[in-house]
Amino acid sequence: MQSREIRKQFLDFFKKQAHVIIPSASLVPKNDPSVLFTTAGMQQFKSYYISKADAQKDLNSLNVASSQKCVRTSDIEEVGDKSHLTFFEMLGNFSFGGYWKKEAIEYAHELITKDFGLKIDFISVFGGADNIPEDKESADIWKSIDSSIIIKKFGREDNFWGPTGEEGPCGPTTEIYVGGIEIWNIVFNEYYQSRDKELTPLKIRGVDTGMGLERLTFVTQGVSSAFETDLFESIIKRIKDISSVSEEKAERIVSDHIRTSVFMIADGVIASNTGRGYILRRLIRRAVRYADILGIAPGELFHVARSVILKYRDIYPELAKSSERIEKEILAEENKFRKTLREGLKQFEKGVDSFILFTTYGFPIELTEEIAREKGGIVDKDKFYKQLKEHQELSRKSSGQKFKK
Ligand code: GLY
Repeated sequence: MQSREIRKQFLDFFKKQAHVIIPSASLVPKNDPSVLFTTAGMQQFKSYYISKADAQKDLNSLNVASSQKCVRTSDIEEVGDKSHLTFFEMLGNFSFGGYWKKEAIEYAHELITKDFGLKIDFISVFGGADNIPEDKESADIWKSIDSSIIIKKFGREDNFWGPTGEEGPCGPTTEIYVGGIEIWNIVFNEYYQSRDKELTPLKIRGVDTGMGLERLTFVTQGVSSAFETDLFESIIKRIKDISSVSEEKAERIVSDHIRTSVFMIADGVIASNTGRGYILRRLIRRAVRYADILGIAPGELFHVARSVILKYRDIYPELAKSSERIEKEILAEENKFRKTLREGLKQFEKGVDSFILFTTYGFPIELTEEIAREKGGIVDKDKFYKQLKEHQELSRKSSGQKFKK
């Protein structure tokens, strides 16, 4: 089954169960300044879980489903193995006081085992921790559906989810494992976690589920990594076409980072030295370094961007709409980086400070660190951040004095 059908089958299933299908929100969250990017399907619905908005009025239902564009870059160094990605689509069904554990678990079981025909390895439930009780109810529901199912109990680290950002809804989870990996996380939002990490019960109980389309596709297609699914097939093929060297890890990194960059630029992110722009810059610059390993000629990475746009433009029309801008931005950032890379590397060899490499040559600290690691050295990160803070304070002060000159 192709990824397109998998995505559709998920949404059709929930449509049949009287869910309203909601389009993906932007990767740049509108109402949540505490996070740089949308990292989960529930993020656009946060206000419904905490009764700040009325889903029945706004969305015409208490139960909705979506396929949400998400970016998570905390594991960027792991990209290249079989499952880590910086961009993914999260399939999710959500309820804001509509249904609860029984329906959520029954839906998940039916969809996974019947519609997708997959065999569940085991499921996990919250075993209780920090005065939050064990989730016996979910375990009982699973047993009533399938008495032979294997149930594992995990603690707060594994089976308690949220909040996204510094505060928000959260709760115990039950998770489904297939093909040796966790594929579906079903969250029962019962609490609100404040900035000082205190939990208070929510007025309404909500369901928030998240299943990565890439992982689901990977187990459904019976391949051995997300990069072998049809989601990446044409992108990896394009990379191979323009490479002179074959190196699996580098191909995976280039495909992942350019895919993420394309979606970020389409949602309005521009490469820069701060915030979201810095993440985009880091992704493109990392892609350039791995493109070099593959022997891809300078200025050719936009071809990879084009293959991403071609793959996704029917599902996410914003890519087709901004295709020219996306390719230009990637090419411009690549060129800018190449100009400084050669000079920066020379300075690096001379032992120039990582802060100077950042301010003068545009080397992200992580890149300096990676190059240092390759060469068997280390970088003093604490010193870098101290210098950065001083620099920021100084420029704040001087910009305040601008008019007094
Ligand atoms: N919101 C559930 C998840 O991200 O897994």
